[in-house]
Amino acid sequence: MRKLLVATRNVGKKREIRSLLGHLPYEIVFPEDVGLYETPEEQVLETEQTFEGNARKKAEYFQKRARVPTVADDSGIEVLSLGGLPGVRSRRFAMAAPGQDIDLANNNALLQRLAGAPTDRRGARFRCVVVLLRDRGAVPRVFEGSCRGRIETEAKGTGGFGYDPLFYSYDLEKTFGEASQKEKDGVSHRGEAFSALADWLEAHPL
Ligand code: IMP
Repeated sequence: MRKLLVATRNVGKKREIRSLLGHLPYEIVFPEDVGLYETPEEQVLETEQTFEGNARKKAEYFQKRARVPTVADDSGIEVLSLGGLPGVRSRRFAMAAPGQDIDLANNNALLQRLAGAPTDRRGARFRCVVVLLRDRGAVPRVFEGSCRGRIETEAKGTGGFGYDPLFYSYDLEKTFGEASQKEKDGVSHRGEAFSALADWLEAHPL
């Protein structure tokens, strides 16, 4: 079976992507599966101001190293009253020190930024941009997804990863932290973007 490399080391993303692409006739592999271990270079790849720019850089970097068709996801949460922050800085929002629980630090930083904000200033959306790079000179294909909700005043639920326990989904009427994986996949930004990728791959096999 042909390999499709998914350029992420994020455990939460891996779990979701495995289930979102599992039905395709490709062997879904992650960097470690093809012998690509983390490099210092990788830490500073995400310098762009857009999700698409960062996803492209990740796809190009990993495609070049692995020489197999590569998919990269760049995603994050945007709070409307904060002008779209944390946005592309979602992973680094709290500037957590090495060894700290990054998700917990980010969630606390976001709660602090919104301390005292009324419900109508807590509107947010998750966004996900997926870039597929088939080979080196190929035109990158871009797929997007988003979902709407608001930031709770405290964490709810222990499912998912990242900001999930703070994100009350308008579709599910509960936080992503309280939702099952299947429920989240059905409405999430990543679910939407990867379904679009899956549809495209079915029509344009690698
Ligand atoms: P990336 O590796 O730059 O794409 O980082 C994305 C960051 O955005 C993650 O570390 C999370 O903090 C956040 N994020 C993206 N997608 C999700 C999600 O589905 N749930 C919760 N947090 C997410």
